[in-house]
Amino acid sequence: HRHLLGIKGLSPADIELLLDRADAAVAISRQSEKKRNTLRGRTQINLFYEASTRTQSSFELAGKRLGADVMNMSVASSSAKKGETLLDTAITLNAMRPDILVIRHSAAGAAALLAQKVTCSVVNAGDGAHEHPTQALLDALTIRREKGRIGGLVIAICGDILHSRVARSNIILLNALGARVRVIAPSTLLPSGIERMGAESFTSMAEGLKGADVVMMLRLQRERMAGSFVPSTREYFRFFGLDAEKLKAAKEDALVMHPGPMNRGIEIASDVADGPRSVIQEQVEMGVAVRMAVMEALLDPRRNEDAA
Ligand code: CP
Repeated sequence: HRHLLGIKGLSPADIELLLDRADAAVAISRQSEKKRNTLRGRTQINLFYEASTRTQSSFELAGKRLGADVMNMSVASSSAKKGETLLDTAITLNAMRPDILVIRHSAAGAAALLAQKVTCSVVNAGDGAHEHPTQALLDALTIRREKGRIGGLVIAICGDILHSRVARSNIILLNALGARVRVIAPSTLLPSGIERMGAESFTSMAEGLKGADVVMMLRLQRERMAGSFVPSTREYFRFFGLDAEKLKAAKEDALVMHPGPMNRGIEIASDVADGPRSVIQEQVEMGVAVRMAVMEALLDPRRNEDAA
C-alpha cells in the first residue's frame, strides 16, 4: 500500500502486520535515546484542518523519532484563510516534494481525494465522520497488549456513533479481527444500517454492557450536530454516561477506553476515566507507536508498490 486512507481495504494480515510493527516500536519510545534513522532524509507534512491534540502531536513525535524532517502546516495562518482550496493547498505542498502528507479534514473523503492528486503517500488522520484509521489501530494495539488477543472479545462502543469516524474505523477493524462488536447509543445517535457493518446495536447501557470485555466511550460531537438533535448533557450522562454503577454490568476485568478528547461528566465520570480499569493513557502511548509503524510501512523501500 502507498497510502493509509481507512481501515476498509486492509486485510486482517495487513492489520496484524501493522500491530506487530507498532508493538516493536513501543520499546523505542520507552528508551532514553528515542531516535531511529529509518526515515532519515524523508519529509513529512502534517496538514490539520480540524483541531487535534493527540493525533497531530503523536504524528509529529513519531516522524521525529524515526528521523524524518517534520513540518506542521499552520492551517489557521495559511492561505486557506484567503480562499485557497484544499486541493490547491495540497498540490502546492506536493510541489515541495514531501514523502508523506498527513491530513485531517472535516469532509469525508478528503484524504482519498488528495491521494489522487499528489505524488507522495497520504495518511488519513480523520476525515469528517468517515474514518480515523490510526485511532482504530492504536485502540486495537492497546486491547491486544492488555488482553492478549482481539478475536472473540465482546467490545462495546458507546455514545455518539452517528458522527464518529473512530466508531466506524473500529467497527471495521474489530470485525476483521474476529471480535464481537456492540454499539450503545440513544436511537437518534445510531446510524441506520449499523448491523450491516457488523455491530449489534443497543439503546440501553445495562443491556449493551452485559459481559463486555472492553468498554469504549465516545464524545458527543456537537460540532457535527448542526440542525440535528442535541441531547442535554445532564440527561445524557444519566442514561449514557459511564459511571461506576453502569460499569458493573461489564466483566470485572473490562477495559475502559476513550479516544479523547474527553468531556468528563458528560460521557464518562472522572473516577472511571482515572480508575484502575482505564487504559486511556496507554492508548495515547500506543498512538505514537502506531504512527511510527504506519509511516515506516508506507515509506519502506521494500514495500509493495501497489497503491492502496
Ligand atoms: N483521538 C483523537 O483523534 O484526538 P485528537 O482529536 O486530539 O487528535
